[in-house]
Amino acid sequence: MRAHDLDTPCLLLDIDVMERNIASMASYLVDKPAKLRPHFKTPKTPEVARRQLAAGAIGITVAKLGEAEVLADAGLGPILVANQVVGPQKIDRLMALLARGADITVAVEAAYHVRELAEGAKRSGQTPAAIIEIDGGMHRCGTRSPAETVALARELVAAGVRYRGVMGYEGHAVLLPDEAERREKAAASLSVVKEHVEALAEVGLSPGIVSVAGTGTFEFAAEAPFVTELQCGSYVFMDGAYGWVLPGRFENALSLLTTVISIRDDYAVADAGMKSLTNEFGAPRTKDGRIKAARLAEEHAHLVGEGIESLRIGDKVELIPSHGDTTLNLHDTYFVVRDGEVVDQWPILAARKFR
Ligand SMILES: Cc1ncc(COP(=O)(O)O)c(C=O)c1O
Repeated sequence: MRAHDLDTPCLLLDIDVMERNIASMASYLVDKPAKLRPHFKTPKTPEVARRQLAAGAIGITVAKLGEAEVLADAGLGPILVANQVVGPQKIDRLMALLARGADITVAVEAAYHVRELAEGAKRSGQTPAAIIEIDGGMHRCGTRSPAETVALARELVAAGVRYRGVMGYEGHAVLLPDEAERREKAAASLSVVKEHVEALAEVGLSPGIVSVAGTGTFEFAAEAPFVTELQCGSYVFMDGAYGWVLPGRFENALSLLTTVISIRDDYAVADAGMKSLTNEFGAPRTKDGRIKAARLAEEHAHLVGEGIESLRIGDKVELIPSHGDTTLNLHDTYFVVRDGEVVDQWPILAARKFR
């Protein structure tokens, strides 16, 4: 079946483009000190994670335990949860994953997290593993001083939790459009992480894992000798917003196929709104950038731009989501496309796994 004959709105995934993105990242990292543990929040399907691992990734990063469970069901890992896991329900799910033999590490930032992990270990007889999240300037989660990080590492060891290292994601830098500013913010964050790493080394607690970076900053981080791994996610599909920031570095693999349902003098309406497409990173656009979805209602997109006048009701329009991760999270299936032909369908097994 031709992709443009599919019912809409639906997600198209160009498998050749995605494979090129995976290969391009893998070959860039081949001789770098840092290795890739790609973030699963982007593809959310084992079909992609499996290909990333086959291309040399050393494991998979996730945001949520629900994503980790999908990977464990698929037999994929080792898994790094780059997030704090809080509350007895989640701690017990983590212990259940360990009991199944999953190699899984979670992030901690405070004594609270260490205590919960130790209590979960006591209840289950499992030995959890953790890294310490450092705040390198993003001001989301993370320790704020080397002394705090050292104290926490000591607490992990004393509590019998396996201490595996640190992470410091510079999310405030990754989408900055100005390359010099992006590099500068990333460098500042990396130097904070380095200070923490040095303080840990001084007390004999050198981190095995030092995990940083996103798609917008990986080239700055990959060269740092103290960084062991990168957490990039978006590179694999390269959404619209990242395409504007890093033109030509990777290619857009993901698009939303829509159908024109109405034509007016200066705009057209497509059948995709906020329930199948997101726009918090800007207006979704066609690949050539000529048409954009200037406004989204729940189930309608206002299409404007050059070429609108030639659209007819029933025409198909492919939009590149500005933010792929939140768009694909609304869907259950990738229609896998090669040369315009649907060659497979992959369930997005971790869609909406936000617990
Ligand atoms: C903790 C963490 N690590 C890494 C990333 C990298 O993602 P990307 O490659 O999409 O910038 C993100 C993005 O949200 C994140 O939250």
